[in-house]
Amino acid sequence: MSEMKKLPVVESGCCAETKTETVGGGCCAPAPSTASSCCAPAPAEASGCCGSTSTEVGDIRTVVRERYGAVAEGRVGAAGCCAGPQVAEATLAEIGYSAEDAAAIPEGANLGLGCGNPIAFAELKGGETVLDLGSGAGIDCFLAARAVGPTGHVIGVDMTASMLERARANARKIEATTVEFRLGEIEHLPVADATVDVIISNCVVNLSPDKPQVFREAYRALRPGGRLMVSDLVLNGPLSDSVRKNVEMYVGCISGAEQRDRYLEQIRGAGFTDVEVVSESGYAVGADAFADGSAEREAFAMVTSVKVRAVKR
Ligand SMILES: C[S@@+](CC[C@H](N)C(=O)[O-])C[C@H]1O[C@@H](n2cnc3c(N)ncnc32)[C@H](O)[C@@H]1O
Repeated sequence: MSEMKKLPVVESGCCAETKTETVGGGCCAPAPSTASSCCAPAPAEASGCCGSTSTEVGDIRTVVRERYGAVAEGRVGAAGCCAGPQVAEATLAEIGYSAEDAAAIPEGANLGLGCGNPIAFAELKGGETVLDLGSGAGIDCFLAARAVGPTGHVIGVDMTASMLERARANARKIEATTVEFRLGEIEHLPVADATVDVIISNCVVNLSPDKPQVFREAYRALRPGGRLMVSDLVLNGPLSDSVRKNVEMYVGCISGAEQRDRYLEQIRGAGFTDVEVVSESGYAVGADAFADGSAEREAFAMVTSVKVRAVKR
């Protein structure tokens, strides 16, 4: 059953306001027939054994943390509700990872949560320090560590403690000594000023209720000459009211997404130069979970997966 919860609905690119919304419950309802992702919202009817249905919602960060905590603990399926690792594997190929990448990732690091492959565009070099915003179970950190080699250093930051535990366990599995995971919010990075060469992120900034602050923090952490390579979902038009206020669509990376132009402007506003979309494609992973003609299904037509590069001069 869905239940009425009071939660702040963050208008895309705007101020938060508190509204009472119907929040669809958890997961473990029969998985949709087609692979969804991360990042793919659970259909509203889904409810059942492993979702986050019970607590009063304080703010959108709490909702996001709770949901991704449940994913990390295996209480909610990531790549489609309870769909399991095969679906996450299939999604990986769909969003731009090679078979070689897939083979290099420790088991359990791919939860099907990304919307692109930032490493493919980051042009990482040996010895660089890389920071991953919202590192999840560590997938891109491990690929970055491979690219920067034994003299490089990779830091993953995530605000969800159980996600961090999972990432650290994955690092131990492959004895990844150059990778560390820190607990923190991407709006307040636990990283000293001007100490990072490259910042990557994969399908996380859309979840932040304060995106300009995320980009300001990224700018602060980068060394002069450092670069940003973000894979994220952005919008090419307005979402319907019902989708904007739908918390499942928010934690599913859709309704918190910013309008494309505004997103690029926020990056420039933080001080970055050479802001460039290096790749973009439609994003419909998970759309099939919703009925044809439903507002949720139609929302995917507004969504683009972008890979954005920017430089700190
Ligand atoms: C969609 S998942 C992406 C995970 C990872 N980048 C990947 O591709 O597998 C979002 C992750 O970002 C984290 N997250 C969301 N908002 C955050 C914030 N404001 N600060 C830090 N971490 C955040 C969540 O805990 C979750 O692990």
